[in-house]
Amino acid sequence: MDYLSLSFFNHVLFCVALYLILYNVYMLVFNKGVPNIRTAPGIRKKIIALLKADMAARNLPAYTIVDMGSGNGLLTRKIAAALPDAKVVGLEISKQSVAWANMMKKRQKLDNLEYICTDFNAYDFSNVSAVVVFLSIYEMGMMGKLLNEKLKPGTLITSNRFKLGDGWQVKEHFKVFTLYPFQKNLYLYEKR
Ligand SMILES: C[S@@+](CC[C@H](N)C(=O)[O-])C[C@H]1O[C@@H](n2cnc3c(N)ncnc32)[C@H](O)[C@@H]1O
Repeated sequence: MDYLSLSFFNHVLFCVALYLILYNVYMLVFNKGVPNIRTAPGIRKKIIALLKADMAARNLPAYTIVDMGSGNGLLTRKIAAALPDAKVVGLEISKQSVAWANMMKKRQKLDNLEYICTDFNAYDFSNVSAVVVFLSIYEMGMMGKLLNEKLKPGTLITSNRFKLGDGWQVKEHFKVFTLYPFQKNLYLYEKR
């Protein structure tokens, strides 16, 4: 390898390392160390289709959908726009993400959408009809336990990428084509 290619290679390596350090510092400072990755468009569409079908089939007086960790809120905004008769709630622990999500909600005039800056463990799930989950594999045991304890029978749950822990039985597994490298699987559950 000549001097020029070696110096180019070193430069690229330095930029990648710097990006990784800054990304992790950002996540630690602003997001309590939890990565904020959005649901891929193909999976988003499938989630919306499942929610629409469930809402039509159950014909409840009110239909409330909760996103467990709504991040910057794109998924909740797409759901709220596609299901104007449903109420959509995004629970998010990061203040910065909630501020961004609220600004985007106002710009899009989505009156059926609400963001709450909270730990989802503290939320009252008594009026919830459906829950969407996209968290890290390390949180799936805890999330399974929380949903087992707090949801009403009949509640629909979708989980992007990882299966719920704590004994949940998958009702349906969808393979979805997306360009996102690790998002190909969507799991559907129903609280018994
Ligand atoms: C992978 S992102 C998913 C974003 C969005 N739900 C989506 O699917 O596009 C997970 C989000 O969950 C949030 N989160 C993690 N633990 C949380 C907790 N205990 N309470 C509330 N939000 C939490 C993180 O801050 C992060 O924004």
